[in-house]
Formats: sequence, C-alpha cells, structure tokens
Amino acid sequence: MTDQSPLAFPPGFTWGAATAAYQIEGGANADGKGRSVWDTFSHTPGKVRGGDTGDIACDSYHRYREDADLLSSLGLSAYRFSISWPRILPDGTGQVNQAGLDYYRALADALGERGIAATATLFHWDLPQGLQDRGGWASREVALRFADYAAVVAEALGDRVARWITLNEPLVVASNGYRTGVHAPGLRDMDAAAAATHHLLLGHGLAVSALRAALPSGAEVGITLNLTPVRVTADANGEGAALERARQVTDACLNGVFLEPVLSGRYPEYAPPALLPPDGLIEDTDMATIAAPLDFLGVNYYQPVHLRPGDPDNLRRDEEAPPVRVDGVVKYRPDGVYQPNSVARTAMDWLVDPEGLYELLLRLSKDAPGLPLYVTENGCAAEDYVNPEGAVDDVERVRFLHLHLAAAARAIRDGANLAGYYVWSLLDNFEWAWGYQKRFGIVFVDFGTQRRIPKASSAFYADVARANAVPPLPVSWPV
Ligand code: FCB
Repeated sequence: MTDQSPLAFPPGFTWGAATAAYQIEGGANADGKGRSVWDTFSHTPGKVRGGDTGDIACDSYHRYREDADLLSSLGLSAYRFSISWPRILPDGTGQVNQAGLDYYRALADALGERGIAATATLFHWDLPQGLQDRGGWASREVALRFADYAAVVAEALGDRVARWITLNEPLVVASNGYRTGVHAPGLRDMDAAAAATHHLLLGHGLAVSALRAALPSGAEVGITLNLTPVRVTADANGEGAALERARQVTDACLNGVFLEPVLSGRYPEYAPPALLPPDGLIEDTDMATIAAPLDFLGVNYYQPVHLRPGDPDNLRRDEEAPPVRVDGVVKYRPDGVYQPNSVARTAMDWLVDPEGLYELLLRLSKDAPGLPLYVTENGCAAEDYVNPEGAVDDVERVRFLHLHLAAAARAIRDGANLAGYYVWSLLDNFEWAWGYQKRFGIVFVDFGTQRRIPKASSAFYADVARANAVPPLPVSWPV
C-alpha cells in the first residue's frame, strides 16, 4: 500500500542524530583518558577490518563545535552522544579525570547554545580496560562500579543533560563481546556471556537509582535496546507448531532476554537456559532493581529476522544465529543461502524492512502501555562517495529514511507511543569490527582531512524535521 498524504508527527516530537564516543571522538589518549576494551581490541591484529582503530576517528573530541554547528544547520532538536567511561575514570573506578568531565560539559554547552537538547548514553561499549582486567561484565563488581560512574557523571552534567540512557544494546555486548568474540573484549565463553547479561542488566538498574538520586527532577532516564521483529514464513507442510516455537524462542533470545527483565523483572520463559544466568548469580533483590521504573525506552531498529523450515544441519552452520534448538527450523542468512526473495539490502547486507519498525513500535506500545518510546538509532550503511561536483548523493539512504520515517509516522497514527527519532548516524564513523569500511552518516567524513560534507540524506532529514512531517512516498516505490 502506498500512502499519498504527508504524515505529520505530533507537536514537540524530538528530531535527533546519534553517535557514540569510541566511534567518533578520537583523542584516544588525550587529557588523561584511560584505555578502553575497544582501544585494546582495535589494536589487536586481525580484529578490525584493515587494522582500523578509533585513535582519531572523526576527531570529534577536538571538533565538537563544528559538529554542533552541523546539527544546528540541520535544524535538529536533539543530539544523542555517549560518554567515554575511561575519559571520566581512567581505570574505571577511583580517581576522576576532571578534563574528561570538562569535555562533556563543553560539548553540552555547545549544544545548549544552539538550542539542541543533549541525550547522553553512559555506556556505548567502551568499558575501561582496568575493569575488563577484573573480569569485565562477567563480574558483578563491574555493575556496582557502573553505578558509581553514573553518579559522578550525573553530578557533573545533570544541569546540562535532560535525557539519560544507561546502556546501549547490552545484548550486543553480551553476545558479540563475550559469546562470539567479534567485538571487544573478544571472548568466546557462553558462561561469561550469560553472567555478563545479568550484570549488564543489574548495572542498568543500579545506575537508574544512582541517576535518580543525583539528577534534578524532570530528568528522563531510560535504556536503549536493539530489538528485532521475528518473522516466520507461511507454513505449507505442517511445520507450523515447530515454527511458532522457534519464533517464541528466537524472540526470547533477541528481545526478551533484556526487554522482559527491564519491563517486568523476569527472564523470558522461552529463553534457552544457556543464555540465562545460573540462579546462583541472581541475588534476592536483583530483579526488582533491574525493573526500576523508566521514563522511556530507547529502541534501535535495523532489520527483522526471518525463520523458515529447513535442514537442521544448516542450523549448526549458522554461527551467528541465536541458539534456537528447534529441529527443522533455520534462520535466513545474509550470505544468500537462505533469504527472503526480492528484499532490498543495505551495504551491511541488512534487510530493508520498514514494516518491521512499524510492528515493533506497536508491539512495544502494547507491551508497555504509557511508556514513551524513542527510536534511538535507525539508519543504513551505503556505498557513499563524493561525486565530481563535490556532493554525496546517497539516494539509497534517502529512500531508507523516507520509508522508515513513514513507517514511524504510521505507527504513531495507529497508536504507538513514539516521542522522538534519532538517526544513526550524524557522521560516518568507526563501525566497530568493520572499521571505516561502512558509512552510516548523513554527513560524509573524509577521514584523511576530517572534512565533513553533508549528504543528500541530511537535507532530506532536515526537511522532515523542519516540517515535522514526512512527505508522501513516491508512488513507484514498493512498500
Ligand atoms: C548499532 C550500534 C551503533 C552502530 C550501529 C550501526 O548496533 O549501537 O554503534 O554501530 O549499530
């Protein structure tokens, strides 16, 4: 169905852009910053494509005023950035590095002077190496230190930052960092991943109360989860029950393991035991701490996952799949082996599926009635280049954003409690294990010169933000 009328967003809707400290700041050793697990990981040969590191990245540590100007020229009302824990506490605990706090105060001031609201994420994956040396998130102690760090930052920035996100995508930390090892700290240890899951959640809950104690009333506190709609193909051969079971298990693995504890104080019924912390790790009051009431939920949406009947041998080959142990059901793979037909993909090989965002927002509004939602990340990588006229005409990204913003507007129209949207990302940046190979920015970065070139998508996004409405989709687009 193609909707031919502009879709308006509610008055006061937040229009933002998102980034993360390790991906843009550079200044890896500047002004007393300590090392993070990502400094260690990116400097370990073979871990990141091309041997790229975040040592310099977009040099936003030194160019934050220019970046604030960019946000302002786009007419955006909010900027989501993350705070580097080792910039504030070089060893993760103990001595506070005042220069680190000063940097974020100056950044928040630069935003404030331009009328841009600051949204700060406390942890976007760059754990201080000193805490990793003590077990990282597999150790309960790190959850306690995270709350201490939250209190320090809230004291210093509480007058400048009104919206706070404890953790970014804890699922990715536990699974990629501790289970598959493709992210820092690079562990492949199921038990450590299960322990990290619980301690990330506990750290979140403890940080919520530390933030509430230190922040002025009116500050908003939430968490950002990456959430993934799970689709099953139609049942033609009587596998309906197995597929439905696989859907529930996959949903528990991808969504429920973090969503249910945060919203309801319990781990999901269908989660495979191997993903969950052993009972001995869960202390009496932990689940109540984790379920502390929130002011909003941050949702990162990129793509859904598809399940279909298949050969169980293929399940074993599918290393990236969550451990869904349902015989005869496989996940579609991005390598062309199993994939839904005729679905567009991004330069990450991720599916372009705006309907997934629509479904997700409505589901969350049903599961957590009254809880405001923010899309804290959504966007795509594309093969961007500067054309001979010196412009970056990223038509794929314009299309991607147009489709997803239309889906978000439709979701609001149909009852979703969506209060804002932050595009990922303001700038091309260090895309974790992919290094600088994958460009997600609405602003192009020439990493040789640090020149920023706003792409066509930034003009499109600015127009949507200014109009507070998304234009009709071109009739020629299949939806
Ligand atoms: C998310 C991360 C973000 C970025 C995007 C593409 O998982 O939170 O830092 O890398 O993916």
